[in-house]
Amino acid sequence: MSDRPRICDYGDSTYRQDFWEGQGRGYEDAVERQVLANLLPRSGRRLLEIGAGFGRITREYRMFRQVVLLDYSLEQLQYARGHYGDDGFLYVAADAYQMPFQSSAFDAATMIRVIHHFENVPAVINQIHAVLADSSAFILEFANKRNLKAILRHILGINKWNPFTLEPVEFVELNFNFHPEYVLEQVTASGFSLRRTVPVSWLRLGLFKRALPTAVLARGDRALQQTGWTISPSIFLDLQLSKPAAAPPGESDDPLDLLRCPVTGSPLTWSDEALLSRNGLRWAIRDGVFDFRKPLE
Ligand SMILES: C[S@@+](CC[C@H](N)C(=O)[O-])C[C@H]1O[C@@H](n2cnc3c(N)ncnc32)[C@H](O)[C@@H]1O
Repeated sequence: MSDRPRICDYGDSTYRQDFWEGQGRGYEDAVERQVLANLLPRSGRRLLEIGAGFGRITREYRMFRQVVLLDYSLEQLQYARGHYGDDGFLYVAADAYQMPFQSSAFDAATMIRVIHHFENVPAVINQIHAVLADSSAFILEFANKRNLKAILRHILGINKWNPFTLEPVEFVELNFNFHPEYVLEQVTASGFSLRRTVPVSWLRLGLFKRALPTAVLARGDRALQQTGWTISPSIFLDLQLSKPAAAPPGESDDPLDLLRCPVTGSPLTWSDEALLSRNGLRWAIRDGVFDFRKPLE
């Protein structure tokens, strides 16, 4: 692995159209929203959505005074901004391995359908730890390597990899499935404690999806979630951070109270419609999205 982890760059991909819209994933979408609604606090100050993409589930976070959408894809964020606008939302194009936020700036974070793109999980978890305040909630979804289908394929000798071993499996370049114990080890090593595990998406089969309405599938899923068996294709972890309390940054909506230079960690000032860090690096704002992927020349 090189020093800089590789990034799965969605750029201007057609993820929204090719994966979600009209693609028969209403059940997965409904179940994820339902789980988020159950796990999220009733109100909050500032939530960070890591790998927000085009904002598919961002409206589930409306109980927070401010929602910050972070993604490496400028285009996905521009689409999200067109949908949600600027009131209560901030859009940040940046690498999750190098977040441009002050420490303890958030009281909650979510990362749904994103960790499977990270080859260096501890590095990302440490970034999340740094930007969350003490007692923050962190809801993490991951694709489960030890799922029922993988276990059956393993027994039948179809899979080349073993679903019971802890190491991540990269089934397509920069697409990893994780063993539940591996993920738990990574988050607890960084200071998070587990409040709840919710195994989801049990009925993700074409046969079921064709035969049954989404609401029925979602009800069935809810019942299966109660088993707590971690052999479903997707798992949500409800985590809480415990770290020495630090004064959180100001509560104003001024982005300068929240953002910092991702390279030097220094505060930023406005300079000709861009942001300037102390060592002279300048960061662009493109159509209302703060762009921290590369400094301006
Ligand atoms: C499968 S999409 C999920 C989007 C959204 N969370 C959802 O569930 O609809 C994964 C997202 O992670 C983003 N991503 C991947 N690697 C990233 C990185 N290093 N930093 C920031 N975002 C990243 C991609 O740009 C993409 O939008």
